[in-house]
Amino acid sequence: MSKTILVTGGAGFIGSNFIHYLYEKYDNNVNIINMDSLTYAGNLENLKDIANKENYTFINGDICDKDLVSKVLIEYPIDTVINFAAESHVDRSILDPDIFAKTNILGTLNLLNCCKKKWTNNDGSIDQSKRFLQVSTDEVYGSLGSDGFFTEVTPLNPRSPYSSSKTSADLFCISYYETYDMPIIITRCSNNYGPYQFPEKLIPLMIHNAMLLKNLPIYGDGLNIRDWLHVKDHCRAIDMVENDGKLGEVYNIGGHNERTNVFIVKRIIKSLAEKYDTQINEDLISYVEDRKGHDRRYGINPKKIDEELGWKPSIMFEEGIEMTIDWYLNNQEWVAGVTSGAYKDYYSTMYGK
Ligand code: NAD
Ligand code: DAU
Repeated sequence: MSKTILVTGGAGFIGSNFIHYLYEKYDNNVNIINMDSLTYAGNLENLKDIANKENYTFINGDICDKDLVSKVLIEYPIDTVINFAAESHVDRSILDPDIFAKTNILGTLNLLNCCKKKWTNNDGSIDQSKRFLQVSTDEVYGSLGSDGFFTEVTPLNPRSPYSSSKTSADLFCISYYETYDMPIIITRCSNNYGPYQFPEKLIPLMIHNAMLLKNLPIYGDGLNIRDWLHVKDHCRAIDMVENDGKLGEVYNIGGHNERTNVFIVKRIIKSLAEKYDTQINEDLISYVEDRKGHDRRYGINPKKIDEELGWKPSIMFEEGIEMTIDWYLNNQEWVAGVTSGAYKDYYSTMYGK
């Protein structure tokens, strides 16, 4: 029998890539319910090739809405919930933290409560055949110095409103596993890149600005390090953890691909100068005021997911970044759509006119 998966936040960057991944892998042997409240980051254009499939249902809804989530769990025979829904951008969390607490903490708590109620057996136990996978982030571990890596037992030390809200959600998930036996698993991935990423994040923002010959704003000295993973490798890892991960456990996901921000920006400039416009060059870079509380370095040790589940990254950075740049070059209408309107206000608040 095919599984029914409730994907929350499936119209966002990783969620929509995950839904595409599920169709590539399982085709008709999966039923997908996508519940997304379509914030600025959610876009049904990301799923237009899937919208009419019989085994796909879109619900425009908020994970904080108790009545709606309960109704969805009654209406559909959901085996698995994969919670991607979140406010995901660190800079926005610095400007306006409240919505991060609401969606990321209270929204996750609401999903947990509704699932707990629906998945409780007559004898009071919880149905252990169900799965609740919380999609979390390496940012819960805080910032690394020049040595070492995050493992699953690295102490939690969030340093931004965004990472604090994700950490709180993780702690609620763990507490529901310990207290109620809720069948929970948490994944914590490093920075993703790939198609459909909203151009507020480093890589698509730099591609978009460079194509328009606009300034490329690098925070601080540009030597902060992020550990980049292609979104498709993240999606494959989530699917493996959902199928074979151990309940109550955390799995870190990352591909040993640490790069400074300035390296990333120069790499994008080089590629776009070759394939798009020779006027694109390093003079476009401007070093701007640093992000408040800017984490210096992230680096994942993915040993556990490799040894227990056999996951390894499959897309190397040089290939992945070219594929991503090509995607943005070939999807300029998508970019124009998401950067019109409210994006302009956000951009001028963040970076000036
Ligand atoms: P995104 O901002 O692109 O997408 C978030 C999606 O959630 C959007 O479609 C939005 O409409 C939806 N959403 C927001 N609030 C909602 C609500 N209250 N109810 C229902 N839907 C709501 O984010 P993303 O980059 O795709 O990240 C997805 C998840 O993965 C997040 O939980 C994030 O913390 C986590 N994560 C992201 C990365 C990364 O590099 N982007 C890395 C690790 C983990
Ligand atoms: O590590 C996982 C996290 O990665 C996810 O949990 C978050 O949802 C996701 O947004 C991402 O967070 P970051 O803050 O690392 O990503 P961002 O793309 O915003 O920034 C990457 C680095 O680039 C960071 O060091 C800040 C820097 N930067 C970013 C922007 C937008 C700049 O220098 N200039 C910019 O304009």
